[in-house]
Amino acid sequence: MSGVHLLRHARFSGCGAKLAPGLLERALCGLEQPAFPELLVGFGTRDDAGVWRLDDETALVQTVDFFPPIVDDPFTFGRIAAANALSDVYAMGGRPLTALAVACFPDEALDVGVLREMLRGGLAALAEAEAALVGGHSIRDETVKLGFAVTGLVHPKRFLRNDAARPGDALILTKALGTGILNVAMREGAAPAAAVAAAVASMTTLNRAAAGIAVDLGASACTDVTGFGLLGHAAEMVAQAPVGLRIDFARLPLLPQALDLARAGHVPGGTGRNRDFRRALVRGHDDLPPHVSDILFDPQTSGGLLFAVPPARVEEAVRRLRAEGLPAAGIGEVTTDAGRITVTP
Ligand code: CO
Ligand code: CO
Repeated sequence: MSGVHLLRHARFSGCGAKLAPGLLERALCGLEQPAFPELLVGFGTRDDAGVWRLDDETALVQTVDFFPPIVDDPFTFGRIAAANALSDVYAMGGRPLTALAVACFPDEALDVGVLREMLRGGLAALAEAEAALVGGHSIRDETVKLGFAVTGLVHPKRFLRNDAARPGDALILTKALGTGILNVAMREGAAPAAAVAAAVASMTTLNRAAAGIAVDLGASACTDVTGFGLLGHAAEMVAQAPVGLRIDFARLPLLPQALDLARAGHVPGGTGRNRDFRRALVRGHDDLPPHVSDILFDPQTSGGLLFAVPPARVEEAVRRLRAEGLPAAGIGEVTTDAGRITVTP
């Protein structure tokens, strides 16, 4: 990373992306800030977290995420919210240190004990991550929302970017897809109990072990699969790098019932927005069955890591991830078909 910056100011880009689901990205477009040589990863590459170099050995990783409840149980929701927020630090190959809680809560309508349970869940996930809750901010709001701003550390030369995959690398996905579909089905009372339990277990699982294995095996690129769905986040891996991806649908780990529930129409609103934004990058998208596309663009909460490793390490990666109890699989490869994603059935 060169420390030389010819421009004294950096302009936020992404103006052409009228369909971009990120409101912040659209609002920032065209605005400027000073160029900081210490800023190793900023807004421009749509990466998981910002990276700020402190010295030759250390860089800060910072991220924030919050959202309304996706499950009824406040403790479980808090755990999921924290696991999800921590995930962006893990996706950079980082080690989380501290967290700030961000909470919106209607204290006239709900007992503050509900918020307490949510935070107790958050603390459980943070304790598992060995990260400390150091403060936070709450506002009275009609809709409950909870999340965390997380700060971690990485080595300034050895963190995992989303835009550095190498052609020939194999792609690994560490968690099953379908949490968005399961969440909708859960709300509509259509999800079988076993499928709900599998989705909750997946969303409360930290990406800590997966990140350790990705770093250990020399991953060239990594991201976590969250709100934009598998193909949305895969698109970010090919949008700023001269590579493409091939993904084998048949090898994707899926949550139980996810395909059937998608076929039955339990599909979140975000799926269509994700598809509109990125379908042009997907070769032959319109030939895919609708329920397949619904899985590929399903917005994930606290989803798994998607990372690229040299092909010789795939077997070891999958074996070690499965030993951690993760339904990981090799799901395809990095190609030279720049900027394109091909899905094979
Ligand atoms: Co992310
Ligand atoms: Co995020």
